[in-house]
Amino acid sequence: MHDHFAKTAKIVGLGSYLPERILTNRELEAMVETSDEWIRTRTGIRERRVVAEDEALVDLVVRAGRAALTDAGVEPEDVDLLILATATVEQPIPATAAIVQPMLGLVNAACFDLSAACSGFTYSLNVARQFIATGEAETILVVGAECLTRYVDWTDRSTCVLFGDGAGAVVLKPGTPGEGILHVRWRTDGNYADIISMPGGGSRFPPHSIESIDKRLPYIKMRGNETFKVAVRSLTEISREVIDAAGIGVEDIDLFIPHQANMRIIQAVGNRLGLSEEQVFTNVERVGNTSAASIPLAMVDARNEGRLKPGSLLLTSAFGGGLTWASSLIRM
Ligand code: UT7
Repeated sequence: MHDHFAKTAKIVGLGSYLPERILTNRELEAMVETSDEWIRTRTGIRERRVVAEDEALVDLVVRAGRAALTDAGVEPEDVDLLILATATVEQPIPATAAIVQPMLGLVNAACFDLSAACSGFTYSLNVARQFIATGEAETILVVGAECLTRYVDWTDRSTCVLFGDGAGAVVLKPGTPGEGILHVRWRTDGNYADIISMPGGGSRFPPHSIESIDKRLPYIKMRGNETFKVAVRSLTEISREVIDAAGIGVEDIDLFIPHQANMRIIQAVGNRLGLSEEQVFTNVERVGNTSAASIPLAMVDARNEGRLKPGSLLLTSAFGGGLTWASSLIRM
């Protein structure tokens, strides 16, 4: 029930970090025309975390990365590769993965950032497993981390209630067939590049350009309702593809961890796949949408709650800007 790799990539350690500051729906009521009731019923979110004034992406990555290495019992010098999935880099040059390398002591690791928005963590798992399968790498650290609140337009009620900050990380090592990452499917459709975007702050409209400032371009923009529909359809389809490729039934899945964007999306996808409530994990209530950090953060929470154990069959599915979407089946 696995793709045809002689060596699979096994998750041998998990770690996460959330900033201390909690931003509640009640506090948002004082900032924009919204209500706790609207946010809870439309999204499931009750609160999210926000970085402190003196924190930025690096602080989140280092904490989650260290936690995963400790959990795995892996020495930093043994890591061959660091893949950092993020859409909210520390600064444009150099890659945030390079900045954190000395902080994490990854002296022998090649380090790069991977940009695939909310699917970034699952995309990174797919990249990482190729290097383990070919023997190019033995030990890989994958981190999904976001400082989304730095790019949220706090005057736009349709987006500012949704996003939060955080980081999650996994350590991968070679496993034997039947364990580790068994299947991944990934997709991109750039025809919908504009439904979730940050149109300014890049080479077209640099952050200091008049257009960027006048038109408030370097902020997250989303056509929520359109995104909702494509998300439900895409997440359901790609999850089914992975289930079918593995030749398993939905009843074989111990836990489904979808990207935590919206409780209604999660429930709709769970229902369409025929999963029971007990099979579906959510923590969107407490963290909001943390994009690339979403799935590894939820994995850590699921393990802490005793719902993700050694040997568990885990299905994860992500969807986000690009559009990108991806699903993976993992034997823990
Ligand atoms: O991570 C990447 C993937 N992201 C997603 O998957 C997110 C997908 N989209 C969503 O989660 C939902 O579409 C939202 C939560 C963003 C919005 O929920 P919705 O049920 O699709 O609402 P809507 O956008 O259709 O808006 C309904 C109404 C509008 O008012 P009118 O036009 O009906 O008068 C909005 O102006 O709700 C209004 N509204 C709000 N009201 C109170 C929008 N945001 C708010 C708000 N508080 N924060």
